[in-house]
Amino acid sequence: MKTFDRRIAVAALGAFAMLGTASVPAQAQDYPNRAITMIVPFAAGGPTDVVARLVGENMAKTLGQPIIIENVVGAGGTTGSIRAARAANDGYTVIMGHMGTHAASVSTYPKLAYDPRTDFEPIALINGAAIVILGRKDFPPKDLKEFVAYVKANETKLNQAHAGVGSVSYTTCEMLNGVLGVKPVGVPFQGTGPAMNALVAGQVDYLCDQITNVVPQVQGGTIKAYAVATPERNPSLPDTPTTTEGGLPAYQASAWNALFAPKGTDPAIVAKLNAAAAKALDDEKVIARMKELGNDIPKPAERTPAALGKLVKDEVDKWAKYLKPVG
Ligand code: MLT
Repeated sequence: MKTFDRRIAVAALGAFAMLGTASVPAQAQDYPNRAITMIVPFAAGGPTDVVARLVGENMAKTLGQPIIIENVVGAGGTTGSIRAARAANDGYTVIMGHMGTHAASVSTYPKLAYDPRTDFEPIALINGAAIVILGRKDFPPKDLKEFVAYVKANETKLNQAHAGVGSVSYTTCEMLNGVLGVKPVGVPFQGTGPAMNALVAGQVDYLCDQITNVVPQVQGGTIKAYAVATPERNPSLPDTPTTTEGGLPAYQASAWNALFAPKGTDPAIVAKLNAAAAKALDDEKVIARMKELGNDIPKPAERTPAALGKLVKDEVDKWAKYLKPVG
């Protein structure tokens, strides 16, 4: 073969070789080749943090790279969410967001610096978490009926804990306070990890929290659980009645946590992260721990990026009905 022809043949082979891999950009091909940061927009020890570490640890094994949890707190989880929205869209920063940061906050912050519907690539829904109405151990009401009467009679003297405007605990207790027609004093914390510590210490009166954060405390008898805000009792809290059983069927509330990447993250990278998250949710140890903490595991059809994108849009609209802009 003449030199000239051979050169053309080599160039053509090289082009074909490139074409063959063109469908997956180089960046995605060897992803991940270093540690991934998973932002948790609340303090360590809260439900979002617990779920992030549980699922993150399993995802790290699948992806072959460490997943480093970074707690970035403040403003009901929106500080960490802004950080994530502005991060490089190279797949090495993701966020464990939730119904507060990626839905309710659109209604509570008129000038929110991100839109969860457009400024993120949805990766996967991770868990569903029933909301539980909690009181400090020596809070006078014995049951939900007495809780309702007591809170109505003493509203302005009561301290209701939450994790910042727009958080799940803020949003779901705003809904409860609306159903009861009361305006207690809101006491913000950097997450419901610290809020729970204050409740156990008797420094605040009540809290609406994700069941993930509640089970050990209720089982330990350090707080009161008045009701779970779902139609059925939760197997991890078998003695806690539902709000319907307690005479408050109008109060139904649950939350969800989900993984997101910055807008523009390569779809092939999103697919790898989604597959690793789905694998974690099929892992028996992860399932056992999630269920022990009262969580619901999404069905496979609920775990796709498209399903999460639809959930975010629907939830933004849903919570807009209950929430007013703050500040
Ligand atoms: C947390 O993890 O601290 C909670 O999700 C905060 C909240 O949303 O109430």
